[in-house]
Amino acid sequence: MSEIFVSTHPLVLHDLTVLRNRVTPPPAFRAALHRVTLLLLHAATADLPTRKVIVPTPLESAEGLALDAAVGFAPILRAGLGMVEAALTLLPQAQVWHLGFYRDEVTLQPVKYYSPLGRQTLPEIMFVLDPMLATGGSAVAAVNELKKHGARRVKFVGLLAAPEGIARLREAHPDVDIFLAAVDRTLNAKGYILPGLGDAGDRQFGTA
Ligand code: PRP
Ligand code: URA
Repeated sequence: MSEIFVSTHPLVLHDLTVLRNRVTPPPAFRAALHRVTLLLLHAATADLPTRKVIVPTPLESAEGLALDAAVGFAPILRAGLGMVEAALTLLPQAQVWHLGFYRDEVTLQPVKYYSPLGRQTLPEIMFVLDPMLATGGSAVAAVNELKKHGARRVKFVGLLAAPEGIARLREAHPDVDIFLAAVDRTLNAKGYILPGLGDAGDRQFGTA
């Protein structure tokens, strides 16, 4: 079964509180999401494969490690966009495959409106980026899409999850590790995470 990592890092928990606060304006929200993403990805990338390399220092040779895997990020639009810059700061060589899903407001089912995936070979390790794992529908649909196009190892990096979303993602994809800042209590009747932070896309982009 997959790993579920929930951060206990004080910096993550501090910024999570900033993100939850309804008075936090979009610029501060985006900055806090950026910082939390850096810290969550620190955990999510801890087992990336490496190989030994020898490099010449100005004085002699030194043995070091180099990353030994192709990595890709799949941010789910819109809210996952706020995690991309942090991801590329840590792994500038990674590919980015944007996936467009929105939740139908009535059925809460994910609706795909954009996928660039075709016949390309995806990187060996793909990280789905989306701050919110609510019903889990969007995350499951994104992982389905990546696996349909050949992804072999997928991890989910989020911010907040409801227990319902974790259960749904684990049931559909027991091999997908999940990295989070917190697991909240439940969902309301409209599929919003409680206590949550509201609509992560609107909070970032000022569209509430
Ligand atoms: C939000 C969020 C997730 C999804 C989570 O996107 O960013 O993608 O909801 O909900 P789920 O787990 O129930 O599928 P939303 O549909 O609001 O689209 P947006 O980011 O474009 O606003
Ligand atoms: N999507 C969000 O942006 N927030 C929620 O609480 C649930 C889904």
